[in-house]
Amino acid sequence: MQPNKFIRLLFLCIFVASVAGSTHLSYSQVGPSAPFDLRCEYLTNPVGIDVRQPRFSWVLEDSDRGELQSAYQILVATSPQRLARQQGDQWDSGKVASDHSIQVSYAGKPLASGHIYYWAVRFWDREGRASAYSEPASFAMGLLSRDDWQGKWISGGNELRKEFQLPSQPTRAWVYATALGYYELHLNGQRVGHRVLDPAFTTYPKRVLYSTYDVTPFLRQGANAIGVMLGGGWATLSHGRSFHGYYSEPALLLQMNVELANGQHFSLASDGSWKATQGPIVSDSVYDGEIYDARRETPGWDRPGYDDSSWSNVQVVPGTDGAISSQMMPPIRRVGEIIPRSITNPEPGVYVFDMGQNLSGWAKLHVRGPRGARVMMRYSELLYPNGMINRANIRAAKSRDIYILKGGGWETYHAHFTYHGFRYVEVTGFPGTPGLDSIRGEVVHTAVQSAGNFVASKQILNQIQHLIHWSQLTNLFSIPTDCDQRDERQGWMGDAQVTAEEAMMNFDMAAFYTNFIRDIHDVQGADGTVTDTVPHRYGSRPADPAWGTAYPQLVWYMWQQYGDRRILEENYKGVKKYVGFLRSRAPGNLLTYSYYGDWVPIVHTPGDFVSAAYYYYDTWILSRIAQVLGNTADAQTYSQLASQIKDAINRKYFHPDAGGYATGTQTANAMALALNLPPAKSRGLIMRDLYDDIVYYHNTHLTTGFIGIKWLMPALTMFGHPDVAYELATQTTYPSWGYMVKKGATTLWELWQDKTGPSMNSHDHAMFGSVGAWFYRALAGIRMEPDTAAYQHIRIEPRLVEDLHWASGTLHTIRGTVSSSWNHSPGKITLDVTIPVGADAVILVPKEEEMTTVTVHEGNHTVWENGQYVPGDPGIQNAQAADDGVTFRVGSGHYAFVLTGE
Ligand code: BGC
Repeated sequence: MQPNKFIRLLFLCIFVASVAGSTHLSYSQVGPSAPFDLRCEYLTNPVGIDVRQPRFSWVLEDSDRGELQSAYQILVATSPQRLARQQGDQWDSGKVASDHSIQVSYAGKPLASGHIYYWAVRFWDREGRASAYSEPASFAMGLLSRDDWQGKWISGGNELRKEFQLPSQPTRAWVYATALGYYELHLNGQRVGHRVLDPAFTTYPKRVLYSTYDVTPFLRQGANAIGVMLGGGWATLSHGRSFHGYYSEPALLLQMNVELANGQHFSLASDGSWKATQGPIVSDSVYDGEIYDARRETPGWDRPGYDDSSWSNVQVVPGTDGAISSQMMPPIRRVGEIIPRSITNPEPGVYVFDMGQNLSGWAKLHVRGPRGARVMMRYSELLYPNGMINRANIRAAKSRDIYILKGGGWETYHAHFTYHGFRYVEVTGFPGTPGLDSIRGEVVHTAVQSAGNFVASKQILNQIQHLIHWSQLTNLFSIPTDCDQRDERQGWMGDAQVTAEEAMMNFDMAAFYTNFIRDIHDVQGADGTVTDTVPHRYGSRPADPAWGTAYPQLVWYMWQQYGDRRILEENYKGVKKYVGFLRSRAPGNLLTYSYYGDWVPIVHTPGDFVSAAYYYYDTWILSRIAQVLGNTADAQTYSQLASQIKDAINRKYFHPDAGGYATGTQTANAMALALNLPPAKSRGLIMRDLYDDIVYYHNTHLTTGFIGIKWLMPALTMFGHPDVAYELATQTTYPSWGYMVKKGATTLWELWQDKTGPSMNSHDHAMFGSVGAWFYRALAGIRMEPDTAAYQHIRIEPRLVEDLHWASGTLHTIRGTVSSSWNHSPGKITLDVTIPVGADAVILVPKEEEMTTVTVHEGNHTVWENGQYVPGDPGIQNAQAADDGVTFRVGSGHYAFVLTGE
């Protein structure tokens, strides 16, 4: 079957399935179906919302094309029953004439700490037809004020417990928990929830994040027990001279609030009355791994009635004075399990398991043997030729877990308070001979949902997409990290800024980056500086400008991708202060300080140029933010400053007769072009320099580092050479992404070079993955019109390149699904597009360069013939001839274009 047909069939199946599964059909046979995918602060039925005006969004569907929302109505109720009766006793927005289906702020009665609310929404379409109400959704508030926390920070062991009596059956119970370090929550003998490595890594002295658990089903009338395991995590980790732990010991802060059937309230909090001991975890360290002695287990410790007379009293410790905020993003979780592909036995007693995929997480061990047997699992990304694991590139991280058996039957173990980046697991000390069943790879990372899909007829692109996907996910550990294996795993801001757009296309990153932007805000100094890593453990303050730019860029991307105006407002001062700091370091409008510049390049670009260019870009972003916020005075001030910076850069770095910008590298010229630095008349010249450098001097290979590559692909595409960008993307010789694939990579490398020694060469860095954004934008052709946000005004403009026969991209945006799939056979191009309700688009149906006369059909209609638009097809507003095809202006809906020509 042709891929295109296959995709269409797939759509049809999905459509039929969704209609079949819909409960709303009875309300409206035609026209709008009920809104779905209801989100509150970007999350589905979240618990622990601690903003007082949470924002709602929903997705719309309509059987008609060119549809939009003309009005909406939101109901927020204090019980599901009230909501079912359509009583918005907490908030009834009434019918609001508005096309906003995203970022709608709550405006009802004040929301109360610890309360749960139920909501639904309906909408009216263009014709004024009302949809049914959506399925109910909910959100539970967290603790809104510091006074809601009655507990104290406690410490003194890594197993903590407390028993309590409930006079009657609980009807609703919440636990709010956080730690300086990591914790695991147990109630009455059961592990609560699926979070691991919780809470998030933050600048703890400034802020810790708590998680909210609905523990109603875990509690009962009478005796209950709560148990908490503690680990040091990032809070206590010291690393040589690089950084010192924030705290010497992990600590817990916990609050439990229970409503009882008899109408009473019960609460319990961490305090001096809790008991503590050192449990089976003998040591734990993010970098080094865990040692777990099962002989030290304390069965029943998390149940009532356990004899804790030998346990000590916990100590009440100062903890942190920082803010205590809710962790409003997806948790780190075990998201999947990998069955090893093979076991080898390179030396007596040494077994090496190959997971077939570089992943983040740990190995789960399944073992039976004598009490006291000590099994060690050491992790690596690489092997030596003799089959032994090669750990040279993980530097000082010990990255191993040790399990000491209690004996007497099958035992299962996985680490609690550490994680590893690995493909191979070396097992030693195993009693007997292990089999494939002895080990599972457990994939662990922040559990963001998939939001995008890209596939194309050129297999190497799909393989690169696989690398991007895995590198991105395995570097999400509540912050975006640089790598997942060596003694680093930090929130390097340069890596964060180059990957963010790709990440936002492939995954639902809205809540994650909302949190990370606050992390950045938390490290900002009074002088406006930010740091190379956030939280600041490695690198410098002030950040290298190509790293610090993550602050303005991420804020701006949150606006572009999700239409998040609130984040612009909340960070306006911060971004302005940051640009103010850069300005204080930029005499003559040139910012020259730089530490890394275009990091890990093939050909070096002067760092001062890179910094100067980011100063320009950050200032430009600030002026754009001011514009969106309606601050015209600032918008003007900063756009003027930006043009002064541009002039200064052009005066100093632009050498029209000597290769373009700075030293004429690909990075320098690509940055200049993409940032629109050259005067219009010189653009062609710079493009030629760039083209020659790539095609003639480097045999169509890139020479950039990870800063430059993010600019190179769009610059080539924007200025007439998508074919060259495509050749770079599909190259398989050094240096290229394809080279990594050919060398057996399953995640992206830190270096273009194939290195395996003790030098800096992680085999899982996400930063070269910025090309993923180019896949969607250039090959699938999904973009936004300039100056628009959240896919309201879309531009579909796929590029026909060389030997690419088809490409397909789907983005589940905050507004709904946007997709573009095209297929090119000689003389014929098909293009299937989906535009969500409330959005419109300009669609370029591309033609072959040689075609002079073209005809375009859409569904059963002819829509372009004899050089003319043929009106009449619903949803299409007009059409125009373009150099490279025909553009159609359309409203929402599915469109299937077929262009034929000679
Ligand atoms: C990290 C990079 C980071 C860089 C700063 C490295 O150790 O792994 O990805 O951006 O340091 O130059």
